[in-house]
Amino acid sequence: MTVQIDHALEEIRRFRPSPEFAAQAVAGTRLYEEARADRLAFWADQARSLLQWETPFTRTLDWSNPPFAKWFDDGTLNVAVNCLDRHVAAGNGDRVALHWEGEPGDSRDVTYAELTDEVRRAANVLTDLGIGEHDRVAIYLPMIPEAVVAMLACARIGAIHSVVFGGFSADSLASRIDDAEASLVITADGGYRKGKVFPLKPVVDDALAKAEGGTVKNVLVVRRGENDIEMADGRDLWWHDTVAQASNEHEAQGFEAEHPLFILYTSGTTGKPKGILHTSGGYLTQVAFTHKNVFDLHPETDVYWCTADVGWVTGHSYVVYGPLANGATQVLYEGTPDTPHPGRWWEIVEKYRVSILYTAPTAIRSFMKLGRQIPHEFNLRSLRLLGSVGEPINPEAWIWYRHVIGGGSIPVVDTWWQTETGAIMISALPGITDLKPGSAQVPVPGISIDILADDGTPVEGEGGGLLVVTEPWPSMLRGIWGDPERFKETYWEKFGDKYFAGDGARRDEDGDIWLLGRVDDVMNVSGHRLSTAEIESSLVAHPWTAEAAVVGASDETTGQAVVAFVILKASQVEHVTDPSDAAEELRRHVATQIGAIARPRQVFIVNELPKTRSGKIMRRLLRDLAEGRQVGDTTTLADTSVMTAITEQVR
Ligand code: PRX
Repeated sequence: MTVQIDHALEEIRRFRPSPEFAAQAVAGTRLYEEARADRLAFWADQARSLLQWETPFTRTLDWSNPPFAKWFDDGTLNVAVNCLDRHVAAGNGDRVALHWEGEPGDSRDVTYAELTDEVRRAANVLTDLGIGEHDRVAIYLPMIPEAVVAMLACARIGAIHSVVFGGFSADSLASRIDDAEASLVITADGGYRKGKVFPLKPVVDDALAKAEGGTVKNVLVVRRGENDIEMADGRDLWWHDTVAQASNEHEAQGFEAEHPLFILYTSGTTGKPKGILHTSGGYLTQVAFTHKNVFDLHPETDVYWCTADVGWVTGHSYVVYGPLANGATQVLYEGTPDTPHPGRWWEIVEKYRVSILYTAPTAIRSFMKLGRQIPHEFNLRSLRLLGSVGEPINPEAWIWYRHVIGGGSIPVVDTWWQTETGAIMISALPGITDLKPGSAQVPVPGISIDILADDGTPVEGEGGGLLVVTEPWPSMLRGIWGDPERFKETYWEKFGDKYFAGDGARRDEDGDIWLLGRVDDVMNVSGHRLSTAEIESSLVAHPWTAEAAVVGASDETTGQAVVAFVILKASQVEHVTDPSDAAEELRRHVATQIGAIARPRQVFIVNELPKTRSGKIMRRLLRDLAEGRQVGDTTTLADTSVMTAITEQVR
């Protein structure tokens, strides 16, 4: 196996643009040159050529008050018009925007004309419900076309959406509703996952009972799961009674380029998620630019499929805004990859003749485990480009993806970016950059990346350090909702005017960048961000827990997995006859409090935690233990015998 991989590595290192990418190669090389010559003029050109402006802008960047950037700020545009109406006006109304595939096998094609109509109707309903510019709307929906409609309807009227992933609990939803002071929630009765209907509306009811702000006036409910739900009189409305009945006439107005578009909550190093704020013109420019060039999109012929849920940033930028701004035809799939059979994804690729597939390493590794015979039962020859996002992709998975799914000769692009960056920042461009398995490689044109030592000095040539973005970029976050201080502290205090990403990185001898994972207390489980502090506070909130420490331990499939070490309260210890019962109860508790994605893989009940003399928990040692390694240097521990005791309890 190793020999085969080395061989493949050699071959791919030498991968050169194939003839089909010749046109792209010429255009792409020009993009790098233009961006290098004048970065701001380059972005201004992209904003003008990729988007339709209501009022053209004359200013490109205002960076007079860092870290608060303004891009294209004297221009106005309507984001929804850019994603919909202008394609219809250009004569592409009959083009399919969404090939939607429900998990049970039902499906629906939605054209650009139909999607435009539906968004106009929804915009009219939102306005009737009193939603106006700057009002916040929480969206808690499964992967159904209405999720896209709801987001774009908000954008159309200048309201700010906050999409909450359907896997999050009532508590998580409640705290997000409160933080953003949302006045409307758009949800569904339920959706399909793993062959079953999972209820959503009942979770919303629960969340609204828990929310302290009392800001929500209405709940708009899409019928999907047909599960039994309760509708509160005067508060709850059915989508089919309102949106479906509304007029499709809607005049969209232009908003300033810096008009807020959405808030998306993501985990940081504290227990409280951060509401990352994105605005309109700069964001749409960079998502459209990267979607077009990183995926070499030909909207007339390509069928694109990004497997991300709209609850994450990838779903915002590369399911909704990027592809629709570019007039792409895409697949939207509701369910899990293995339902009702393990070849489900490949069946969808075959059915719609998908040509561009964008997914996460964790999914690829799960398929690798099942073996190549499953994808080989399907015709995957329509694929011509593969993308990866969410975590470092190991070279073995990269090669398997390219060979088994891609047939051996098509480009694989590994794209690095974050909720905060809004759009892809580091990636090869297919047909231009040589491809190197495992490395995200080079900044996209117009993006300036560097690697710094801890003291801020740039790492010259080969070497490792901390990843920074050295110049403002169009789709950068504009702040943390309601917390400008945290915004400055988290990203800008360490290196002044350079954006600190929180990732470690290494530059190799060819100048290519390799991402090395987070350097803070943020974990990456299946490409989803989780905070150790958030899970620790959830564990400590349980009446049995005295103290808890959480680490991200490497995991073959999910990249990292949550492993918790818990000390029970003395008053509880005597009641717990079997520690595995306590562990199970605590795992369940975290899943209910935060969401199933946060459920620890393991909870170890221990008597002590390793602490320094100043009382700081040494998570590094717990990580060694969780990963089955020899425990590292313990000399700074207050009591060096503690690790021996914990190791005995765990093993
Ligand atoms: O650690 C990096 C990792 O995911 C983090 C961002 O997570 P999130 O905001 O949830 O966005 C995920 C989807 C863009 C980063 O700090 N990450 C993301 N993409 C890659 C990656 N690590 C290595 N290689 C990537 N391609």
